[in-house]
Amino acid sequence: SRRRQVDETLAPFRLSQEQLQLVKTRMRAGLEAGLKSKGPSTIKMLPSFVYRTPDGTEKGKYLALDLGGTNFRALLVNFKKGLQHNVRLYHKIYTIPQEIMQGTGEELFDHIAQCVSDFLDYMGMKNAHLPAGFTFSFPCEQTAIDTGTLVSWTKGYKATDCEGHDVVSLLREAIKRRNEFDLDIVAVVNDTVGTMMSCAYEDPQCEIGLIAGTGTNVCYMEELKNIEKTEHKFGKTEEGEKEEHMQDEGTEGEKKEGDAEIPKMCINTEWGGLGDDGSLDDIITPYDVEVNQNSLNPGKQRFEKLTSGMYLGEVVRQVLLDLTRGGLLFRGHVTETLKTPGIFQTKYLSQIESDRLALLQVRSILQQLGLNSTCDDSIIVKEVCGAVSRRAAQLCGAGMAAVVEKIRENRGLDHLNITVGVDGALYKLHPHFAGVLQETARILAPQCNVTFLPSEEGSGKGAALITAVARQKHD
Ligand code: BG6
Ligand code: GLC
Repeated sequence: SRRRQVDETLAPFRLSQEQLQLVKTRMRAGLEAGLKSKGPSTIKMLPSFVYRTPDGTEKGKYLALDLGGTNFRALLVNFKKGLQHNVRLYHKIYTIPQEIMQGTGEELFDHIAQCVSDFLDYMGMKNAHLPAGFTFSFPCEQTAIDTGTLVSWTKGYKATDCEGHDVVSLLREAIKRRNEFDLDIVAVVNDTVGTMMSCAYEDPQCEIGLIAGTGTNVCYMEELKNIEKTEHKFGKTEEGEKEEHMQDEGTEGEKKEGDAEIPKMCINTEWGGLGDDGSLDDIITPYDVEVNQNSLNPGKQRFEKLTSGMYLGEVVRQVLLDLTRGGLLFRGHVTETLKTPGIFQTKYLSQIESDRLALLQVRSILQQLGLNSTCDDSIIVKEVCGAVSRRAAQLCGAGMAAVVEKIRENRGLDHLNITVGVDGALYKLHPHFAGVLQETARILAPQCNVTFLPSEEGSGKGAALITAVARQKHD
């Protein structure tokens, strides 16, 4: 029957507790391997050179640039002197056209410089020469807070001549080419790190940043002694960093749960790379294989392709194509629309899965997308979306369980209370993602009490906080 065939198609998306447990175990092993200085690791565990979360003493005006999510954003963030938690924020959103994402590096950075120019005009601050923080949401190998070599593009970007280059230099050069305004780029920051900092400003228990958006990634505060990489890379200077860090923490001793004296650094895990060595092959479906092959980076970011907004719609589309070919949907009609990559954006999946929506409304969304559906079709489409997004949230929860367990064990605690700062359209717009994520993390990490705190102003405020801290060191 039709029912049975649909169930069979969706069965591989329904993960058992044992499978989720395995994903957690593999994620944990990946985190550990990435911290080691030697040997290959699919999880990069990149040092961020951010040694502490904010303490409320940050002040001044900063520019923040935010590249790599759905939109490019320019922000002016003003932390008022002496007044904790008094932040003024102005921002403007710019879209980056696909031709620019996938053109030359020079075009991309010229485009960013042009957006910044427009923003400074808009704010009337062309001559201000502001300190700036650059949220750049791709894997960067950092050797300091203000340099980051792009390891590889992810998500929808593929601009030439950027991989292997310092993105701060690329931006500085573009600004120089424009010869119209000056910026002092003080920090380059992953969006997870910006999000963690932004949320930690409100909640000192926040030591993890999570993005569930176009892509997926996590950062967290790791103890310096566990980061073999930096020890090797920086040898003796490391001691200096540690001392400086301890002094920082000394002034805010009462804030943390008594572990304030332990030197830490925020690590950008790049957990989206889990499975790039084949370790997730047992849960990967033929539809995922198809999505991976059609992507800009085949073989890379396998975990990300199971869990993030840029890919979920594509997985759904592959399933719908298969069901349609089998005559189970859309009267067996494979239309051009259904063959069009990218039609199911996160916002549509979120609408389709909304419980408040009547099936008639689901049909009207499908109609807007150019898909003629019957009532039965719309039930099946909704079910497919549900299976794919539920799996995504569960996998993300399993990953999160591995991270919080690692932190709990680091601290030698029986029980850990911790807050995760979160951003991303999948987390914020989807009607069930957040709930399933939280539930899965709770089941798989029963000794941890994990609070998810949505970031209110994106990662830009966090980038500005990091810039403020980096600036204080220079002044
Ligand atoms: C934004 C953050 O709000 O969320 C960005 O400011 C981040 O830094 C983004 O990249 C992630 O979400 P999405 O859904 O836009 O990819
Ligand atoms: C991708 C990027 C990562 C970023 C994440 C969320 O996984 O590689 O750096 O944090 O997307 O935007």
